[in-house]
Amino acid sequence: MYVELPSCEKVMGEIEKLGFNRKISRREALSTAAKVAISAVVAGVVAGVGGYYAGSLAAPPVTKTVTETRTETRTVGAATVTMTATETKTVTSTVTSPTTVIRTVTATAPAPTKPLKIGVIGKSVHPYWSVVDKGSAKAGEELKMAGMDITVSFWVPYKEDVPAQLKTMDSYIAEGYAGIAVAPSDPDAIIPVIRKALDAKIPVITIDTDAPKSDRLAYLGTDNYMAGVAAGKAMLEALQKMGLARPGGKIAMGTGSLTARNSLERMQGFKDVVEPAGYKVLEPVCDYEDAAKALELAAATLAANPDLVGAFGVYAYNGPAWARAVEEAGKVGKIAIVEFDATKENIEPIKTGVIYATVAQRQYFMGYYGVKLLALMNQWGWESALKFYIPRYPANKIFDTGVDVVKKENLKAYYEEVVARGEPVDWTPD
Ligand code: BGC
Repeated sequence: MYVELPSCEKVMGEIEKLGFNRKISRREALSTAAKVAISAVVAGVVAGVGGYYAGSLAAPPVTKTVTETRTETRTVGAATVTMTATETKTVTSTVTSPTTVIRTVTATAPAPTKPLKIGVIGKSVHPYWSVVDKGSAKAGEELKMAGMDITVSFWVPYKEDVPAQLKTMDSYIAEGYAGIAVAPSDPDAIIPVIRKALDAKIPVITIDTDAPKSDRLAYLGTDNYMAGVAAGKAMLEALQKMGLARPGGKIAMGTGSLTARNSLERMQGFKDVVEPAGYKVLEPVCDYEDAAKALELAAATLAANPDLVGAFGVYAYNGPAWARAVEEAGKVGKIAIVEFDATKENIEPIKTGVIYATVAQRQYFMGYYGVKLLALMNQWGWESALKFYIPRYPANKIFDTGVDVVKKENLKAYYEEVVARGEPVDWTPD
């Protein structure tokens, strides 16, 4: 995103708008202009984020715009810092009901003088995580362009690896990182190392999957329980449409973790919808984020359960694994598949009709806003930055990035929304 330095006149105008009668010199205004630009980029222009799920999958398009302006003035040392945030929320969708939140910020605050290193720790090697990497890198580039001395590192283990995640966090702490965003594969095991970082005055947030019992400052990501509910609703619809609906029908689940909260919450949300509708959900098969293992397990589950009516892919590569296993078993059309995420390998089977629906996360924004929030904490102070980004902080510590429920029939509309929101896409709808 290109950010122009505001003109001297514009800054003076902004200052007047804030109700300051004080006359400032052109030189003062110019230096304020530079600071405003830096702060504006730090805070970012928030686009395409919000947590709204498909209450009804066939919901009609809704459009609603709400604009809210907040101003906060504080004293930092000898300087008075004024932050004004204008937040425009637009709910308009043909896909589900995603919210587009646009936040423009003008603020003056001294830029941090020391170089900042921000670390992002993911869970496995997969195109899903490459998108988080892209979002984090984009935030870093914008901050650099605005004059911040910042380095963003992105790291993932090959597959689920709790000790490796802890070791990486430890090394970031030892290297004096200025902030860490982590997706903990085990929310309990991560608690002591989060404490250690916070004790060393390094802010820590969780992304993608939460660790609410830890002292992490905030969680930026999907509401996984509700996303699981959306997957369950899509499954019931698929079973109905495919003529597979029947009481007592068996549904299998394939996942990459039996400890990560996102996996557990998705499965719970899913079961809470399909079980009361009369389906029997089998115990999940777990591959520990090894895609080859996921395929083996999917094939073995199909062979062991010839009467299966549905399969749920909990992690990004699980849906494609079910799709391939179903194709190889010659059972296309006889098993309804619902999956998560929208990388190319998720979308192709939707186009061919092998997978009925996917619950697409907006992981680009987990990386992008994760990095911006951590950088802003260094610039404005932890509390101010958290209050700015997290609705109703500190009572609430969650920033819900939202999901879209995508099927063949709304693939094009979804594609257009994703492009409009600025998320990277490696597929086309045709
Ligand atoms: C999950 C991640 C997981 C990824 C694996 C996503 O659906 O949110 O936690 O690492 O799938 O590809």
